[in-house]
Amino acid sequence: MGETESERWRRRDAAAVWHPFTQHSLWLDDEPTVVDRAEGPWLYDVDGNRYLDGVSSLWVTTFGHREPRIDAAIRDQLDRLDHATFLGATHPVGIELAERLLAVAPRGDRELSKVFYAGDGSSAVEVALKMAYQYSTQTNGPRPQFIRLSQAYHGDTLGAVSVGGVELFHDTYRPLLLKTLELGSPGVRRPGQSAAERAAESIEELKRLLAEHGDQVCALIVEPLVQGAAGMLTHHPDFLRAARELTDAHGVLLICDEVATGVGRTGRMWASQHADVVPDLLVTAKGITGGYLPLSAVLTTQAVYDAFLGAPARARTFFHGHTYTGSPLAAAAALANLRLMAETNLVDRAARLGDRLGARLAPLAEHPGVVEIRRLGTMTGVEVRPRGERTGVRVCRFARNRGVWIRPLGDTVILMPPLGLEDTQVDMLVDALAGALDEVYR
Ligand SMILES: Cc1ncc(COP(=O)(O)O)c(C=O)c1O
Repeated sequence: MGETESERWRRRDAAAVWHPFTQHSLWLDDEPTVVDRAEGPWLYDVDGNRYLDGVSSLWVTTFGHREPRIDAAIRDQLDRLDHATFLGATHPVGIELAERLLAVAPRGDRELSKVFYAGDGSSAVEVALKMAYQYSTQTNGPRPQFIRLSQAYHGDTLGAVSVGGVELFHDTYRPLLLKTLELGSPGVRRPGQSAAERAAESIEELKRLLAEHGDQVCALIVEPLVQGAAGMLTHHPDFLRAARELTDAHGVLLICDEVATGVGRTGRMWASQHADVVPDLLVTAKGITGGYLPLSAVLTTQAVYDAFLGAPARARTFFHGHTYTGSPLAAAAALANLRLMAETNLVDRAARLGDRLGARLAPLAEHPGVVEIRRLGTMTGVEVRPRGERTGVRVCRFARNRGVWIRPLGDTVILMPPLGLEDTQVDMLVDALAGALDEVYR
């Protein structure tokens, strides 16, 4: 038999491409999917096979692939303006998007009133870190330290790695990194310990860290409620509420990295809303453009913004920006996505989708291969019991044979479907996972 289309492309791929987070000695053995096109929740490979996209193409797709109204918004923008710099110029779609983001920002004891754009999640985290440090130098500092959570993931640029806590990804780079203080993750519980008990412990530890080092700390950075890359480690909202109070008491900024959790994934627009918390800096990326184009943003308060005002000679300016900051095409996609989300109540639909997913997954908690199921809204991690090498990868391979495309993080299988998924498609997703588990653990 001759080579299939997929095999042909994989051979060319292996000859020319270096993939992210990929051990290339195993790449071809894993028979990577060669995606040709997509529509709604479906991916089609170059051989015409169809797969349900169970992870929203790395946690970004909101409605589904090629949503006609987002497609049209990008095409319209293309007919008007492809790119204009945000340095010394501006454009209507970038302004309108900022207004829309602020309108949907979390509300409470402070208001997010300014938007700074960047390109992807990591670059927005860099923005937030630099902004927080410079804010301290211009107000109550300089304070050169950050508090980060163990198990955290904030991206792969060096600043973002500095505040990360996933050993496998981050330890190699430790000698290169910024100064940080680690706080034990509120999501890492001892057997039998409740989420509230674990949150209380982390809160006590945070109190101690701040009492001892608070005057050296410019910001605490957290993934609110769900530490995604750690395998969907969820924590109790009490932690975030206390973190808000304690950081305020010590003049420390709170950065909520909503790159993964934001834009509806947890069944609220922002995960911070589950705890009624408004951060000083909110980082958003991934789903903001509906999954189409790279765009990220840091939303912040007037108080932070004001600390950067002054005569140019005093160097209070925020000296940061990227070539594609505020890209009009990406902004058009994001604006269309956010408008459509509001018009179709997508966040409420996501909450219902999460409930259905939870109900359908519940019986799997008793499966001999399952250690724990963790979920908030649609963000789901199914931790499986190791059986041989790379168990998570094998579960996902078997699911793919059943027409569902999902990915593991170590031995946690991630489900994070597009927010507009229909009930029958949720059933297909869970049935494929259940079937794959049966095959691995039979
Ligand atoms: C919480 C969080 N922050 C930051 C990032 C980095 O985003 P990007 O991959 O767009 O750089 C991610 C990516 O998964 C993330 O989950």
